[in-house]
Amino acid sequence: MAIRPLIAGNWKMNGTGASLEELARLKTLLSEVGSMESEVLICPPATLVHRAFQLAEGSDILIGGQDCHFHPNGAHTGDVSAAMLVDAGAGHVILGHSERRADHGETNAIVKSKASCAIAAGLTPVICVGETLMEREEGRAEQVVGLQLAESLPADFGDLGIVVAYEPVWAIGTGKTATADDIKAMHGFIRSLLVSSSEKGSGARLLYGGSVKPDNAAAILATPEVNGALVGGASLKANDFFSILMAA
Ligand code: PGA
Repeated sequence: MAIRPLIAGNWKMNGTGASLEELARLKTLLSEVGSMESEVLICPPATLVHRAFQLAEGSDILIGGQDCHFHPNGAHTGDVSAAMLVDAGAGHVILGHSERRADHGETNAIVKSKASCAIAAGLTPVICVGETLMEREEGRAEQVVGLQLAESLPADFGDLGIVVAYEPVWAIGTGKTATADDIKAMHGFIRSLLVSSSEKGSGARLLYGGSVKPDNAAAILATPEVNGALVGGASLKANDFFSILMAA
């Protein structure tokens, strides 16, 4: 069965209320084309989730968060829980992004706990994995990504519709994309792991992320086992993000 592509935008720590104009523009662009081949997800900063959700109403744009805590509630100053994201209108949450793994020391075990909280609250996690440049150069890319998957994904991920995003750390925000052969090889490897660990592993969505832009999106999205993209920088401008959507 064909997997419907998902094109997800990760605004990261960018955007204030004024940036919602880009979302409004995206909504207009999408209304002009009618039904889309892909699902469309925008993950703004937590402060904008609710306003983005309200603005997206009446369109096919889904709204998600960029992280949630690994406890459902409690004394965790400054953190956002999965239930809070749901309450604000999110349906998805990005988890284990390499920037969070690096900035906040998030381990695979933490990512897995976050995924459990997200699922319990009704969110679909988008779980990110990916090797650093050093790990790739040392020939350890598959080993690293395999371990991240084994330790970050909940056991029943196939039944839960969890999305996996492969984002080589060296390709994020650098303008460097993995070659079609690199992406094909790693996505094939990840797919084989998903299939061997869940009966529904063949249906899990597997996104590519890392410097996806309007000019390389078509080639990336046509690569075998790529079921969509997680887009950072190019999701901040409605026109760029829309071009990527049109390439799917
Ligand atoms: P980028 O970010 O498209 O700016 O490289 C991708 C990501 O980190 O999700």
